[in-house]
Amino acid sequence: MLQNTVSTRRNIGGTEFPILAAALPVVANDPVGDTYWHIRLKAATTHLSSRPGQFFQLRCPRSEAGDPFLRRPMSVYAVDTNVGEIAFLYKVTGIGTTGLSTLVPGDTLDVLGPLGVGFDINPEWDHVLVVARGVGLATMGPLARALHHNGVALTAICSYRTPEATIGLEPFELHGSVHTVYDTDGTSDIASVDSLIREEHARRSFSFAYTCGSKRIVSLLQDLSSQLGFGGEVALEQRMACGLGMCHSCVIDLRRGDTVESVRVCTRGPVFSLGDIVAPEETLSWYRSCDESAI
Ligand SMILES: Cc1cc2nc3c(=O)[nH]c(=O)nc-3n(C[C@H](O)[C@H](O)[C@H](O)COP(=O)(O)OP(=O)(O)OC[C@H]3O[C@@H](n4cnc5c(N)ncnc54)[C@H](O)[C@@H]3O)c2cc1C
Ligand code: FES
Repeated sequence: MLQNTVSTRRNIGGTEFPILAAALPVVANDPVGDTYWHIRLKAATTHLSSRPGQFFQLRCPRSEAGDPFLRRPMSVYAVDTNVGEIAFLYKVTGIGTTGLSTLVPGDTLDVLGPLGVGFDINPEWDHVLVVARGVGLATMGPLARALHHNGVALTAICSYRTPEATIGLEPFELHGSVHTVYDTDGTSDIASVDSLIREEHARRSFSFAYTCGSKRIVSLLQDLSSQLGFGGEVALEQRMACGLGMCHSCVIDLRRGDTVESVRVCTRGPVFSLGDIVAPEETLSWYRSCDESAI
């Protein structure tokens, strides 16, 4: 394993942690359904210390699709300290992820991380909500495991286009109760998800809610959190270049009291407080231009 420590930083909570660039051996890289892949890598100790919500910058190999110049950001899907492995669950969408899907056991993948600020977990919470969509479930898998480890009960709402597109349910089924909702039968409509959350909250109230970057879910959870009285966090999938805070390509606007502040998602996030996310009409950043139709 080729290793090379590139930096040591302080995170938002004041804890110092190392970032390691290393070429990690591929243990397995298998398709999951039509468009998703699951890759497992033999990892260094530094990588095994990554927290739920943090991400790595992957130097995806060249393939017939092209040669990706920049690293690609990817959330950690699983960490197995017993066997010393980290895993990523990824959707093949372009040059980088196509190259990633060509790796086979025995190859190496150059990774840089762990990066960013992960999710907050309070062991005193009784019951929390996770709402995730499609490949966003990859980001939430380690969170489900950590919540279980901290004795916090979890209800997950996992949203997909179709039943055939269902992926990443295992951590939620193992560690909590799960509702799957689909575009094809209308159960993923924002009104249906709203009703479902209210029913679950009436049954056993939520202390906190987590979601990933769908702006319709973020808006819904912002409304529900103020009406029903729970806090929350969102993991944003902002487009990134360096992932290290140097290029400013990942800047978004955040609410700070009565003002709006521009911050870099790669260093201040990708996890942010729900209440800090600015409504699309108030911002000129990515959050305004992302896909309106998908939740
Ligand atoms: C913090 C973070 C964590 C992520 N975790 C995961 C994960 O666990 N699994 C996973 O499959 N993907 C994840 N992504 C998205 C992933 O980085 C992109 O899908 C990937 O960079 C696409 O690279 P590509 O070269 O294959 O596609 P490109 O050729 O670069 O783009 C192909 C398509 O993907 C879209 N795209 C590219 N980058 C992003 C992005 N950052 N967010 C949303 N859409 C994008 C483009 O708009 C385009 O439509 C994450 C992104 C971030 C910022
Ligand atoms: S990706 Fe370069 S500053 Fe965030």
